[in-house]
Amino acid sequence: MADLPSQIAELWDRASELGPADHDALAVVTEAIDLLDTGQARVAEVDQATGEVIVHEWLKQAILLLFRLRSMETMEVGPFEYVDKLPLKRGYAGAAVRVVPGASARWGSFLGAGVVCMPSYVNIGARVGADTMVDTWATVGSCAQIGERVHLSGGVGIGGVLEPAQAAPVIIEDEAMIGSRCMVTQGARVGRGAVLGEGTILNPSIPVIDAESGDEVGRGHVPPWTVAVQASRRREFAGGEFFLPCVLVLRHLTEGQRHDKAQLNDILRQHGVSA
Ligand SMILES: CC(C)(COP(=O)(O)OP(=O)(O)OC[C@H]1O[C@@H](n2cnc3c(N)ncnc32)[C@H](O)[C@@H]1OP(=O)(O)O)[C@@H](O)C(=O)NCCC(=O)NCCS
Repeated sequence: MADLPSQIAELWDRASELGPADHDALAVVTEAIDLLDTGQARVAEVDQATGEVIVHEWLKQAILLLFRLRSMETMEVGPFEYVDKLPLKRGYAGAAVRVVPGASARWGSFLGAGVVCMPSYVNIGARVGADTMVDTWATVGSCAQIGERVHLSGGVGIGGVLEPAQAAPVIIEDEAMIGSRCMVTQGARVGRGAVLGEGTILNPSIPVIDAESGDEVGRGHVPPWTVAVQASRRREFAGGEFFLPCVLVLRHLTEGQRHDKAQLNDILRQHGVSA
C-alpha cells in the first residue's frame, strides 16, 4: 500500500467525489489526523538551516478532506448541546496538560506537556509547544504553530490558515510573549523570544519598522529577541492623509534575555492564574 502522504494526495485529487459514505477514505484521513493529534506530525515548521517555513501540504489537505468525510453529530455535556463534525481532544492528564473548564481544543490539535489552557480555544491542526500558556479567551486558529514556553495573553487572536493548502500558517516561535488582545493572522511570524505589546496587529501586509533606524525590517515578521508595539505610519492618498498601522520595534534584547515585563509570565504560570 502507498504511504500515507501519497494516499492523502490520491484522495485530494478526487475530493469532490468524496462524502461521509466513504469509510475507507475516512480511515486514511483519520490516521493522518491522529499523527497531528499526538504530535508525531505537524502542518508546518521552521527549517533550522535556512530559517524558512516548510508547509507539509498533505496534512492540511487531510484536514480539509476530514470536513468532507465526517457527518454532523450532536454531543451533549450536562445542559449543553453541541453539533459539529469533529470530536474534541482527550487524554489531557496523560499528556501533562492543564485544561481549565471553559477551554476546548479540537481533536487533531497538539498540546505539549506543561501547556496550560485557560478558558480558550485551540483549533484543528494547531500545535502548541511544551510549557506554553494559552491565557483566557485566547484563540489559536487552525494549523497555527506556537512554540515552547510562549505566553499567549488574554484575548490574543492567532489566525487560522487552512486554504489554500500551500499557504503558510501563523508561526510564533519559542519563548515569545504575545501581549493581550494582539491579532496575528494570515501566516505572520513572531521570532523567538520577541515581545509583542498589547493590541498589536500583525499580518503579512503590515510593515515592521525599526524605531532606531527608521528602516522597514520586513512585513508580517517580528524579528527574534525584540520588543515591538503597535504604531501607525503616515500615508498620503488622493483623498488626504491617513494613518495606517505598522509594528514598531522599540528595542533589541540579547539572545535569551527576558524583557522585565515578560517575567510576569513565569509568575502567572507558577500560580496558574490568568491576567
Ligand atoms: C510591549 C511592552 C513590553 C513595552 O514595555 P517597555 O519596553 O517597558 O516599553 P515602555 O513602557 O518603556 O514604553 C516605551 C514606549 O512605547 C510605548 N508603548 C508601550 N507599550 C505600548 C503598546 N502596547 N502599544 C503602543 N505603545 C506602547 C510607550 O508609551 C512608550 O512611549 P514613550 O517612550 O513615548 O513614553 C509592554 O507594553 C508590555 O509588557 N506589554 C504586554 C503586557 C501584557 O499584555 N500582559 C499580558 C499578561 S498580564
